[in-house]
Amino acid sequence: MARSGKATVIGAGFYGSTTAQRMAEFDIFAEVVLTDIRDGWSEGLALDLNSSRPIEGFETKVVGKTTTVDGGGYEVIADSDIVVITAGLPRKPGMSRMDLLEVNAGIVRGVAQNIAKFAPNAVVVVVSNPLDEMTRLTQIATGFPPERVIGQAGMLDTARFTFFVAERLGLPVGAVKTLTLGSHGDTMVPVPSACTVNVDGTTKPLSSLLSGSEIDAIVDRVRGGGAEVVALLKTGSAYYAPSAAAAAMVKAIATDSHSVMPVCAWLSGQYGISDVYLGVEAKLGRGGVEEVVERALTADELTALRQAADAVRTKSADVLSL
Ligand code: LAC
Repeated sequence: MARSGKATVIGAGFYGSTTAQRMAEFDIFAEVVLTDIRDGWSEGLALDLNSSRPIEGFETKVVGKTTTVDGGGYEVIADSDIVVITAGLPRKPGMSRMDLLEVNAGIVRGVAQNIAKFAPNAVVVVVSNPLDEMTRLTQIATGFPPERVIGQAGMLDTARFTFFVAERLGLPVGAVKTLTLGSHGDTMVPVPSACTVNVDGTTKPLSSLLSGSEIDAIVDRVRGGGAEVVALLKTGSAYYAPSAAAAAMVKAIATDSHSVMPVCAWLSGQYGISDVYLGVEAKLGRGGVEEVVERALTADELTALRQAADAVRTKSADVLSL
């Protein structure tokens, strides 16, 4: 099997390390690089991951490197085709993603500047929170064209939505299709009109199987899906589903798949919305976002999406002034 290219994950917490693991286990890259500012941490994880290769059966080489805030060690990411930014603090119980804005803005800005210097042609996938604002900050701080900076949120929120519906109906997750757009936060816009369920080979609208109030309850749980995990863990936040989502985006980019996925992308007129990073469906390929794909929304969904855009635009402006 031909392996090619180099993909990097910045930040080797649970989210970063599980993303790197999934990317390495795809066995499509020549090299996966994992960096962290904790001395020896990435090197230790890389040694451990490489030692799993004979058992898991993948040949992608994992390289770990300790970096410093001022760019020390960053030469290891040189010529990366894709860089995933997971650096930053996770939430503690009771915190909203927005509570991380100030501290993570400083971390993400520094990381983005180093990416621009050492991997100027990379497509960047951002997962640090608050997601939509950190994605905009990364685009500004790298100076990369917007199509080369993408945030991960919709894949995760949609996966949670699908799981909750499947669990409620007692069906396989593969039988359920759902969608969320908007922000990765309070103004998340789950899209019930796009949700379908396959029962005995027949595709039915979700609304034909659950009542409006049942769907509303699931939608509320999706909005709080990340916080529900944080509250249970008590320290740290979710990483299995988030890393699966980020790695799926990386794979779509690396394989030039042209898959349409819900991601955080730059809008320039789609849905009548401009100049903001927001959760929408987009076609991903080697160059990043190839096209934002619009779908027919109900009037309520479109209103909610525009409200989400206004909220994120305001917060993004705050971040840039920090
Ligand atoms: C979550 C975090 C990663 O939703 O934003 O779990």
